Amino acid sequence: MVKTGGRGKPIFIGGAGVALLMLWTFSPFPSLPTTLSVRRMAISPEQDGAAAMPDCAGEDGHGVNMGHDPADHTFYDDPDLTYTVGSPVKNWDEKRKEWLKHHPSFAAGAENRLFMLTATQPWPCKNPIGDHLNLRLFKNKVDYCRIHGYDIFYNNALLHPKMKSYWAKIPVVRATMVAHPEAEWIFWIDSDAMITDMDFKPPFEKYKDHNLVVDGWPNLIYEKKSWVGLNAGVFFLRNCQWSMNFLEAWAEMGPQTPNYENWAKIQMETLSDKTYPVSDDQSGLIYLLLKEKEKWGDKIYIENQYTLSGYWGGIVNSFDKIIDNYARIEKKVVELRRRHAEKVSEHYAEVMAEAFRKEGGGDRARMRPFITHFTGCQPCSGEHPGYSDDACWIGMEKALNFADNQVLRNYGFVRPNLQNSSSLCPLPYGFSSYKKEK
Ligand SMILES: *[C@@H]1O[C@H](CO)[C@@H](O)[C@H](O)[C@H]1NC(C)=O
Repeated sequence: MVKTGGRGKPIFIGGAGVALLMLWTFSPFPSLPTTLSVRRMAISPEQDGAAAMPDCAGEDGHGVNMGHDPADHTFYDDPDLTYTVGSPVKNWDEKRKEWLKHHPSFAAGAENRLFMLTATQPWPCKNPIGDHLNLRLFKNKVDYCRIHGYDIFYNNALLHPKMKSYWAKIPVVRATMVAHPEAEWIFWIDSDAMITDMDFKPPFEKYKDHNLVVDGWPNLIYEKKSWVGLNAGVFFLRNCQWSMNFLEAWAEMGPQTPNYENWAKIQMETLSDKTYPVSDDQSGLIYLLLKEKEKWGDKIYIENQYTLSGYWGGIVNSFDKIIDNYARIEKKVVELRRRHAEKVSEHYAEVMAEAFRKEGGGDRARMRPFITHFTGCQPCSGEHPGYSDDACWIGMEKALNFADNQVLRNYGFVRPNLQNSSSLCPLPYGFSSYKKEK
């Protein structure tokens, strides 16, 4: 679609435009106008006056043009292009840049554009409530993306037959980089992790010199050499050549390589507390930080200033306290109790963040954790040695409802009891979004 830039975009589909479009869609004859020429014939509001109808076609609402792909040669036209681990794309940064040049509506805003990626196994869950939990976990991510205008891809195909379980994400991330040249950041999030602060937006300005952001603690990685010094289940990866190369190096330790068994030994020798004799992606990432620090370390940001991957066990019992904190602030700041369209949620998120800062922020414990990760709970298989069913499922239900309440408030409802998904109340005018007025 033709863009005039800024807010004054023309309104295209007047009566004549609709008629043409219908003709084009239904005509059995081969010499049809192209989509582009139909759009060129579209009528601007000045020409069409009162007959103009709102523009409902072409753009996706973020000002990008999804109907435009010029014939100019890009990397997609290269028969040697691959989407798979084992054959990295070369000159990826230039190729991405070139593509963006031909797709200017995507180039605007590409700087920190985020693309969320998550996945589950291709087959049904063994745990009878596993598929239900997966659905709710996915809904949680969709909600977050819709609120912030992010795209999301939910994969449930094994893109490499040998890279299963925790290794499966690497080929998915690799393919997504090529499928989404418009995205600067791939936001990988494990299926068993959920967004528990719908307001939070990643601070990408802080990562301008980095290409990979993971939750972790440098002393646990570099001094303790602990395999749990970071969590590889949630990360931001920049869509660039460095990442292309990094994924290759990381995948070297995976089950698709002849050295897989050897890597288990190497990882166990390198890390102080790895006892499970199988090479895993998280140990592999820490191994690269320890042994190839000069090569990769500079571009990897170990994040612990907010909860990028919070361990659920330490979080689920704090929800009530956190709810009280937010309720107290909502009570103080009248604007926060104002009803509003979901689309403008980011404004209210900023008002809330400002109120926290005024209170003397910095104390993250009072705020919602961005991500609560149910590591070890395995909702799909239901196998979680070391944790009881109750701990996992009650914790998960609480966390899902805690997150969902942040979504439901814009639809006029709240679940007063986090442990009962069936409980629901309408939110009266002027009330805070939480279970009771404090
Ligand atoms: C959950 O809430 C529903 C609706 O309010 C109620 O009927 C039901 O008894 C509650 N269940 C439990 C276990 O409290």
